[in-house]
Amino acid sequence: MSLKIGKYEIKYPIVQGGMGVGVSWGNLAGTVSAAGGLGTISSVGTGYYDNCRFVKKLVEGRPLGVENTHSREALIEIFKNARKICGDAPLACNILHVITDYKRVVIDAIDAGANIIVTGAGLPTDLAKIVAEKCKDMANDVAIVPIVSSGKALKVISRFWQRAGRLPDAIIVEGPLSGGHQGAKEEDLFKPEHSLESILVDVVAERDKWGTMPVIAAGGIWDKADVDRIMALGADAVQLGTRFALTYEGDASDEFKQVLLDANEEDIKIVKSPVGYPARALNTPLIKNLEPRKILCRSNCIVPCNHGVGATEVGYCIADSLGDGVLGKLENGLFFCGANVYKAKKLQHVQEIIDELK
Ligand SMILES: Cc1cc2nc3c(=O)[nH]c(=O)nc-3n(C[C@H](O)[C@H](O)[C@H](O)COP(=O)(O)O)c2cc1C
Repeated sequence: MSLKIGKYEIKYPIVQGGMGVGVSWGNLAGTVSAAGGLGTISSVGTGYYDNCRFVKKLVEGRPLGVENTHSREALIEIFKNARKICGDAPLACNILHVITDYKRVVIDAIDAGANIIVTGAGLPTDLAKIVAEKCKDMANDVAIVPIVSSGKALKVISRFWQRAGRLPDAIIVEGPLSGGHQGAKEEDLFKPEHSLESILVDVVAERDKWGTMPVIAAGGIWDKADVDRIMALGADAVQLGTRFALTYEGDASDEFKQVLLDANEEDIKIVKSPVGYPARALNTPLIKNLEPRKILCRSNCIVPCNHGVGATEVGYCIADSLGDGVLGKLENGLFFCGANVYKAKKLQHVQEIIDELK
């Protein structure tokens, strides 16, 4: 069974979720796409790519301002490197809706050669219009895919996109066991109606009102039994994050991967984030010592943080901390992970994971 997203045919219905900062860049995404899944390049914090080689201005070793933080030049280079691995196979780009310069980064991703744009963290009501304006001559060459956590969110997005002459080419539904930012408030996260099983059924019912585009389920999917269970509930494909992060081909540092491999179940926490959503991360020193403190904003990376106001409230900067995490700096880094990360015992090759799940 293959997965069709717009005009793109993906051999296996297995998607590698976008993981920022720097966990899914060219090497991981290219390898997944070459193996017959769909690789997703993360577009956030690309300034950190290759020791900040593409950054025009650094302050204390960090990219200054939004153009340097979400660097166009670095994103283009990341796609080039992925293409060396996967050739013409479809590649997706994950772009969080909350980032400053969202529209510019969507355009950068299309220029870089993304076939599929995936957006979560907010309602990307403007994505269809941005892509339609950018791709006047290329019709539906660029597929567009929202990440949602309810049928209601899908309905709102589909209504907006319909006005721009488009509908989602696929839908990712992400449940509360996923890594990184969550789609529900902390107090609601573990209510039965927010489980992946419940929201999947809700989203499939809403999808049926709009068409037959595939629904891709994400969050806590680990082994073949999980895949079979979730497909039986109506998913057309699955998306995995944590398992692909823990591959030899994963773009994060060895230290980052080791921190995740060492995690026990009790180390996994739901934490506050300047993005405004709760997030799942490991209880590393940054989280253990968390308290409001003045944070100087250098990156202007996301709109809801409002130049460091949100960061000061929660006690850390999301760009700085994820940047430190991916470099494996245990003291200051933020280490996102899915709820099942404790099941990982060793690194694997992407091909082994695809072979196991396909
Ligand atoms: C380290 C890490 C970083 C992530 N960063 C992003 C991101 O930048 N954008 C996004 O949409 N999802 C992000 N996610 C979510 C993944 O794309 C994926 O949907 C999710 O992790 C699936 O759950 P699983 O990890 O249990 O497989 C991240 C997940 C992890 C583990």
